[in-house]
Amino acid sequence: DPQSVLDDIGAQFHLGSDTLGSIAEAFIEEYRQGLAGYGKPMAMIPTFVTGVPDGTETGTFLALDLGGTNLRVCQVVLNGDKTFSLSQQKYKVSDALKTGEATALFDYLADSVDAFLTSNAEKDTSASGLNQPDVLPLGLTFSFPVEQTALDSGKILTWTKGFAAKHAVGNDVVQLLQNAFNRKHMHVKCVALVNDTVGAMLSRAYTSGGCTLGAIFGTGTNGAYVEQVENITKLGNNPAVAKGGVMVVNTEWGAFNNSRSHLPSTPYDMTLDRQSINPGFQAFEKFISGMYLGEITRLVLLSLIDAAPKPILFGGKSSSILDKQWGLDSSVMSDIETAWESVGVTSNPTPKFNDWDDNKLDHNVKSKLDRVWAVVVSGMGVSADHVSLRDASIVKWICSLVAKRAARLSSVAVAATMLQTGRATLVKGDTSHPSATSTEEIKIGVDGSLIQFYPHFEDMVREGLRYLVGEGVEGRIEIGLAKDGSGVGAALCALQATKQI
Ligand code: BG6
Ligand code: GLC
Repeated sequence: DPQSVLDDIGAQFHLGSDTLGSIAEAFIEEYRQGLAGYGKPMAMIPTFVTGVPDGTETGTFLALDLGGTNLRVCQVVLNGDKTFSLSQQKYKVSDALKTGEATALFDYLADSVDAFLTSNAEKDTSASGLNQPDVLPLGLTFSFPVEQTALDSGKILTWTKGFAAKHAVGNDVVQLLQNAFNRKHMHVKCVALVNDTVGAMLSRAYTSGGCTLGAIFGTGTNGAYVEQVENITKLGNNPAVAKGGVMVVNTEWGAFNNSRSHLPSTPYDMTLDRQSINPGFQAFEKFISGMYLGEITRLVLLSLIDAAPKPILFGGKSSSILDKQWGLDSSVMSDIETAWESVGVTSNPTPKFNDWDDNKLDHNVKSKLDRVWAVVVSGMGVSADHVSLRDASIVKWICSLVAKRAARLSSVAVAATMLQTGRATLVKGDTSHPSATSTEEIKIGVDGSLIQFYPHFEDMVREGLRYLVGEGVEGRIEIGLAKDGSGVGAALCALQATKQI
């Protein structure tokens, strides 16, 4: 019966508060393992960033940002009054570069910086201070796991998010980039290396005077937070330990629970993983981030198109978008949800398959829904004759199931960070915990296409947070966009590095 198929999908994607709580407990356990030892799934990378900015920093820097939707080269001017100005150029990285030889990828990065400098020099040579003949300091935002050994060096641990360039893993990423600059005789020196989460956190701190967590919900997902150095026990007798204080830790939480013992995997998740470039890795990220949500949705939709004995969706017809792995972009999900919202449909009950008859809909309702229908038809690429209004409602429902589960799991990561830093407790009626009485404002800097553009993603994260850490803590969390976080963060790290020289 089609209805029971839909009900079953609904149940598979549902995450109740008990399940969320136990996932949060497992999450924090992996945090602790990663702080205690190297080579753990959650890498918990010490970044050697030992403070957060306060907005008074000044200077002009180049920044290069690889690992999000776009490759970006930026020139950042920190004004020292919590403001900055930034000019940037975006470039695309082809699949051939992502999976070819690392030297080709890094040559392309150097060429992009060169092109940016050339066009900047043509525009203006006076004001920037960057187009001088001496060596230009550059901060690299590299949004992949790197085991950092200093502000300006670190080995690539693994690729994520569809990258697989050869002869890169195990090498120093700053060196790979510097070699490319040198091959091209460019007067640019890479002085600092930063993950995008750290960039988000630093830039939020710069513009708002403080920050506890930097998190990315974009192509991938990850977070960086401020930890007490004494808790990073794997540092052993590293000189940073004697100094004490705090250090920013890049968690690489996308790798949480790669064994999937706690993550509620459906057959769609297993198929996605098996067919991905990195099966068995980045399990958490594969439930949450923009690179994967479209693919999960595509697999669910195909199962309804191919349902036996009778198709449940689109009269059994597919499309080239739906037939192709990664064919369905997560932005299509956003568009569809936005379209439904524009006609006033915000709740998300399981569609009543047998009771829905397009022909019996009221004329007004029908003409309203026609607009939504058109968005579904173009997004799915299925021939219009095969798409009913009922189909359109099923598609919307699937999109929101997949997105809601992503947001709930995102809230686990945020909540676990609050637990780890002593700012919260898992609410099981614990009113004695200090978090119940604290008034501290908890600042979180976020970036990424999902949190920026997916309708109500933040609201859904907050709903999960209320389940996990209670309204009191959730209400004190201020989630702010770390606009241009990577550029500003890289500039701030470059500044810290040039001061040390
Ligand atoms: C961008 C940052 O704004 O956000 C990148 O500059 C970051 O460094 C990215 O990786 C994350 O979002 P997305 O959606 O582009 O992956
Ligand atoms: C992936 C990367 C991580 C990055 C995140 C967000 O999880 O491994 O380093 O921060 O994507 O871009």
